[in-house]
Amino acid sequence: MAIVINNTDKTYTLYTKNSMYQMKVDDLGTLIHNYYGEKMEYSDLHYYVECTEIPPFSPNPIACKKTKYPNYSYNHIGEEISFSGNGEFRLTAMSIRNADGTLGCEPKFVSARTEKGKYSLKGLPAFYGDEADTLVITLKDTIYDIYFHLYYGVFEEYDLITRSVVVENKEKNSIKLEKAMTLNLELPSGSYDMIYFRGRHMRERMFERARINHAQTSIESVRGASSHHENPFVIIADKNANEDFGNAYGIALVYSGNFKISAEKDQWEKTRVVAGINSENFNFEVESQGTFTCPEVAMVYSNEGFAKMSNCFHKAIRNNLCRGKFKNARRPILINNWEGTYFNFNADKLVAMAHEAKKMGVELFVMDDGWFGKRDNDCCALGDWTPNETKLQGTLMELSQRINNEGMKFGIWFEPECISEDSDLYRAHPDFAFQMPNRAPQISRQQLVLDFSRKEVVDNIYNQLVKVLDSANISYVKWDFNRHITDLYSVSLPSEKQGEVYHRYMLGLYDLLERITTKYPDILFESCSGGGGRFDCGMLYYMPQVWTSDNSDAIDRLKIQYGTSFAYPVSAMGAHVSTCPNHQNARVTPLKTRGNVAYFGTYGLELDVTKMTDEEKAEITRQIEEFKKYYELIQRGDYYRLLSPFTPEESLFCAWETVKPDGSEALVCTVRYESDAATAPEFVKVKGLVKNKWYRINGGEEKYLGASLMNIGFKVPYDFFTYPSRLFHITEA
Ligand code: GLA
Repeated sequence: MAIVINNTDKTYTLYTKNSMYQMKVDDLGTLIHNYYGEKMEYSDLHYYVECTEIPPFSPNPIACKKTKYPNYSYNHIGEEISFSGNGEFRLTAMSIRNADGTLGCEPKFVSARTEKGKYSLKGLPAFYGDEADTLVITLKDTIYDIYFHLYYGVFEEYDLITRSVVVENKEKNSIKLEKAMTLNLELPSGSYDMIYFRGRHMRERMFERARINHAQTSIESVRGASSHHENPFVIIADKNANEDFGNAYGIALVYSGNFKISAEKDQWEKTRVVAGINSENFNFEVESQGTFTCPEVAMVYSNEGFAKMSNCFHKAIRNNLCRGKFKNARRPILINNWEGTYFNFNADKLVAMAHEAKKMGVELFVMDDGWFGKRDNDCCALGDWTPNETKLQGTLMELSQRINNEGMKFGIWFEPECISEDSDLYRAHPDFAFQMPNRAPQISRQQLVLDFSRKEVVDNIYNQLVKVLDSANISYVKWDFNRHITDLYSVSLPSEKQGEVYHRYMLGLYDLLERITTKYPDILFESCSGGGGRFDCGMLYYMPQVWTSDNSDAIDRLKIQYGTSFAYPVSAMGAHVSTCPNHQNARVTPLKTRGNVAYFGTYGLELDVTKMTDEEKAEITRQIEEFKKYYELIQRGDYYRLLSPFTPEESLFCAWETVKPDGSEALVCTVRYESDAATAPEFVKVKGLVKNKWYRINGGEEKYLGASLMNIGFKVPYDFFTYPSRLFHITEA
């Protein structure tokens, strides 16, 4: 039973296969967070958060004097959801400005109910699934008619608990949310690290680890998108936790806009985490009888380190977040023309590329940026989604048919959220772009962002997209977003509501994504934002894959894909073989290495195949066959990071593995990313095999016991060239 309500103890306990999350209504009616961690037999775990000591300089609500806790203070107990203004001086999740200007809020328990299946959130992405259970706890402020509906979704199998909060204003007047974060989490005693994934354009999701101390540790975005800078996912882990050992709490926001995740050790040495919409530039009015829904937070607890946590997220994202017919289907192997031609192409060139690619086994041709308006460079035409029939040497339908006649599906690139000043759309509607009256806007990649907080702007783009998508045989869409939001000002809102624009932009974007992806269920959508600038659970709800990075160099990709894998499955990672020297860093790597790295993603090509040698074409043909052979194992196996690319002092190799959940078959990939003279023999320890079963590697003569492959490992043969890579296919002997 996933949700247990104990009316005697007034506890609400959520159980997954390996975790337990407990709340309790205390004597003052406050909803207290008792515990989140390893699964245990039921007991009321309230003793950890009780106010038995006298916490100095911690104010007491007057009502507590009549209880057995006369020292009770919101600054000391672990509330399930915390508010500023009521004597809570630690990190808080919510700040409510009442109509009369007061800030206080003291919500008390009203009711609880369970529902079969997972709740959904109107207008926002969220995990879904009939196999999950929902608990809804309602709280109400002691004075005002303001209600807080706390939603919990429990996915037992994946050790996944989701959470959202709906604020409902039943007062006669509007209230203001000055802070509306979803998660407030108090952890069991101990010392924790925050592991987060920082980066920049072409260097996304770099692993970093910081001790959570009394100074707040935070990651955030104020860019209007989740961004390359910091990803909306963290692991809060025991200070000595690693891939296989220790408590690890993965926390992912199902949101693609401004966010913040903060943690601190409080005065009483307890660790608290809050997560949700970033409060900077946020201020949201909830009208009388209106509601505000906080974006979902998804949490996985693992008592066996990071690998187990990652695998739970991978499965849950694949099966219960991504939607549509492609979520578990083998995606077509694509070639994208961007790095092959950039803006310099016409239809004949694209058809010639498709012709060569088809011979190697490629299934889908994607026409990237440059096909619309007068766009021959990145200075113009965003917003004018009309095919350039001169460049396309005919209509879009004709081009799609020419590609289809080569035996391939046809796909296309859009950047629907942006607008060039040099565009017909901008000339007709300059107010559609975010900009401030009397101040020249910040230009980024020669473009501005459309004000998607306005329905008429979203509708204009929707209609343009529909016209294009209906006009040709389109099987795939790459949805890009190549700058961040500045000059935040919407002409449609009064000055006191400008703090709503960032979030309203996200609601407008999600509305557009919902309408388009529902209308075109047969189109495969891939999200992109200058590569992996919006790689988050919000976008994955609408699109099952994301272009992981504009950096296609296989060696840089080791770190990028390694960092990405902590939360996100390989089925979501767009990965292409590109040319050498690499266009982003001029590195030269073996074609085989480029292929092996792209296998652990969606695998595709991004180069001018008409310029490849016969030898290279033969190698790509081999790779496509090999990738198809291992597809199921790679996409659906359990994923293990074996040797990190972030620790050259420990190993010059990076290695990772995918293994069938029953341990009967595994595929290990190794890449040497540094060269060394007189290299010491390198062994790779495998995971997830059956200890007492015998295995062979790549069908070889020698047999290895599962236990020995896991405890000693196998030896990686030495290759005397730079950046070698090998695949080791491990099967039962
Ligand atoms: C972004 C994308 C690239 C490409 C270009 C086109 O940078 O990440 O893959 O589509 O835009 O302008």
